[in-house]
Formats: sequence, C-alpha cells, structure tokens
Amino acid sequence: MRQSDWESIIRAATDPAARYLESLPDRPVYRPVDAEEIRGIVGGPLPEEGSPPGDVVAGLAGDLDPFIAAHASGRYFGFVNGGLHPAAYGAELLVSTWDQNAALYAAAPGVAVVEDVAAGWLLDLLDLPPDASVGFVTGGQMATFTCLAAARHHVLDEAGWDVEAYGLQGAPVVNIVVKTERHSTVPRALGYLGLGGATAIEVPSDGQSRMDPGALDKVLADLIGPTVICVESGNVNTGSFDPFSAVADAADRHRDRGNPTWVHVDGAVGLWARASADHRHLVEGLERLDSWSVDAHKLLNVTYDSGIAICRHPDAHRAAMGVQASYLAKADGDARDSADWNPEFSRRARGVALYATLRSLGRSGVDDLVARLCLLAGRFADRLEASGRAEVMNDVVFNQVLIRWLADDGDHDALTDRVISCIQADGTAYFGGTTWNGMRLMRISVSDWATDEEDVDRAVEALLSCAG
Ligand SMILES: Cc1ncc(COP(=O)(O)O)c(C=O)c1O
Repeated sequence: MRQSDWESIIRAATDPAARYLESLPDRPVYRPVDAEEIRGIVGGPLPEEGSPPGDVVAGLAGDLDPFIAAHASGRYFGFVNGGLHPAAYGAELLVSTWDQNAALYAAAPGVAVVEDVAAGWLLDLLDLPPDASVGFVTGGQMATFTCLAAARHHVLDEAGWDVEAYGLQGAPVVNIVVKTERHSTVPRALGYLGLGGATAIEVPSDGQSRMDPGALDKVLADLIGPTVICVESGNVNTGSFDPFSAVADAADRHRDRGNPTWVHVDGAVGLWARASADHRHLVEGLERLDSWSVDAHKLLNVTYDSGIAICRHPDAHRAAMGVQASYLAKADGDARDSADWNPEFSRRARGVALYATLRSLGRSGVDDLVARLCLLAGRFADRLEASGRAEVMNDVVFNQVLIRWLADDGDHDALTDRVISCIQADGTAYFGGTTWNGMRLMRISVSDWATDEEDVDRAVEALLSCAG
C-alpha cells in the first residue's frame, strides 16, 4: 500500500490549530473584509504541478488565519452560531481520520452503533418518545425537510395516497399551516417538498413571535383533509416558544374531525430547553406532537454541521427517506443504516461528535450549559438596559436578546445599524442585526459554552463606546 507521511500532515494541521484555539481569548472576533482580498491570497489559476500535501495544509492554515471569523470565541454573539465543545472537536478529528462512509452498518459498523447510542441518549435527554426515529443531518434546515417529508407521507398515506410512488400530481391537497414569524427554513423545506412555502396559511403571531392558539383553532375549523402544522421552539429573534399544549389540543380536535394531521416543531434553537430544569416549563406539551428538529451545532456546541430530525412515527420517517438497491447490504437485527433516516446517501458520521459531547457533558452538564447561556443573555439585557442607551425589546426567556439603540435624534434604526457596523469593525465582539416588528434591532445570541461574565461585560463596554 502506498503511504503518506501522516505525522507531518497531522502536525501541519494541528500545530496551527492549537495556536488558533489558544489565541481565541485575545484575537479579534471578526474583521469586515473584501472577498477580493482573500481571493488575492488563495485564488489564481489551478496549478499545473502539484505540491506536497503538508505544504498545502500549512499554507492554507497561514493564508486563512486572518480571515477566520472566530465563531468559537466566547464573544461571538452572531446568528445562533454555537461554539466548539472540546469533546466534539476531538471526535471530529477522529471522524476525519477514519474517513468512514457512514451510510450503512455494513460499511461502517463502529460509527453506526455510536450514532445509534447517541440517538437513544438524545431522546432520553430531551424526554421524547423512546421509540421515536432519529436522522442525523447537516442542520435545522435539513432536519425540518426530513420531518416534513415524513409528515407529507403520513397525512397522504392516511388519505389513501402513496406520495413516494406517485408524487403530488393528482394527490389530495395538503393544508399547510405556519405562523407569520416562522423561520425562513420552513417555507424553504416546504418548497423542496412541492408543498409550496408561499401558499401556506399563516396564523398570526403575538408580540413575542409566538403562535396565537385561538387563531390556530379558527384556521383549522375551516380546513378539511390532510393537514401539516409547523410550530417553533425558540424563535430566532425573540427566543420565544409556541404554546405547545394548546397547539396539541387544537391538532387533536382537528384529527378527531377526521383530518389526517401532523404537527412539526422547529426546535433548532430551543429544543434544548427540554434538557434544562429551569426552562422545561417553556416546552411542556411539545412531546405530544409528531416531529422535532434540533441543532446540535447551536446550543450544544457540537462542531458544524450537525442537526437532528426526530419523528414519533418511524414508519413514516422510513417511508420518506428509506433506500433500497440490490448491492446494498442492509442491516438486520437492531443495527442502524443511517441512509434510511436522512436524505443523504454517502455521509459523514456526524453523530459521533454528538455522542462525544453528550458523553463529556452528561445530563447535568447539558442542563448547566443551557442554564448558563440563558443567564448570560439576561446579564446582557440587564447591563444594556441599565446603561439608559438601549432598550430590550423582547421578553428574555431563553438565550436571545433584541436590542434597540436609543438615538437622541429619534432615529433609533440608524443608530442601531451604526452600532452593529462599529462593533463588527472593532472586533471585540460580534453582533448582527435584524428587522423585527418594523424596527432595526441588534440581535444577541448567547450560544457558546466558552462565554463567561467577563466576555459579556467586555462586549457591553465595547458596544457602549460604539454608541458614543
Ligand atoms: C428557529 C430556527 N430554525 C431553523 C434554523 C436553521 O438551522 P440551520 O442553520 O442549522 O439549518 C435556524 C437557524 O438559526 C433557526 O434559528
């Protein structure tokens, strides 16, 4: 067998990796940069002659270092980007080393069992039905897609239609019900599935972006036939939670009227509230619904990319995603073929990093992590409100805070945008913006295990100096 100088490749990657990780407390979190500047360093024509792999890796590490946005920094509060849990990082290095195609048990039995164990631990931690099915996917987008594919199968099957065989042409109409402030990945997933994101019926949200259950009842009263309802655990702006028990009651009534019904929960951000004793009350009733999507790369701090699709009805999940071919040696007994539970065929064993993180944190560690992120979000809200320069616009119930910077001239939108640009250029911390209820606001998402009180206070100080 031909061999490479693996030691030198590993050193070429891990020496700069260690320097990068050690620099996180002090390095700028972000620097606005022109793509041309980066292209000038890494671009150019495809080389005619090759280079030694170790040189390529060492060169890449050096070339890109100034342009890496420090998502793993304790002062990165943009989007809902999680940090880097050390156990996930170590496990990912191994997954890259093993280079397993984790589609089938027969091809990669070790990682298949580890992923299966991780799936069981996750259902236990989130207190979801122990016999629910689990698919490991790239993120919330594909988890919602997978769950809605199962939903589409289930409600159409009950209506006597085989959607996998015959598609949607000639199928009974599927009523889709969402709320006005659903995440953009929901209509996108509906679009992938031929269910038309734009034609979904919108139920009004309340002042915290939660679905209005009375309005849901009214919408359902007028619908007949297969129905898929999408709700949310952790809104991307406010961090709020839909009223799950009332939604489950409304769905039961709809079902009792003879309508095949499925309720999906987009829990990319907030399904983790199920694992936190202090936040569990926000997610009561959610276990009565039909499917749940969640991101491990957000609050759990598993390496990118890692999302999970969970379904109460394994038969529907498998009917929507399962794959057969004469050359595929399928698992028997209780072994798991991942290809039957996610849209990919060949795939990375991304559940291994989840396994390592859950094993390292344990049940109490996940509880502490979620609680701490939410406490730090509260600290941001308190400090900024106390400054008199900013107003907290949402009820801070989870890890998300919405801030409006208050301008003396009354143009709060313009000041808010200026503060966001200033802090991004400053590099002490990273925050992004959003438009919510017609206002420009600054989003704070506390999603990194590494964030501590000092990080919050440093970030607040830098923000106040940006606000002038
Ligand atoms: C509520 C919600 N759903 C879905 C997503 C999409 O998740 P992903 O980026 O992992 O696909 C996000 C991303 O922030 C989100 O906040």
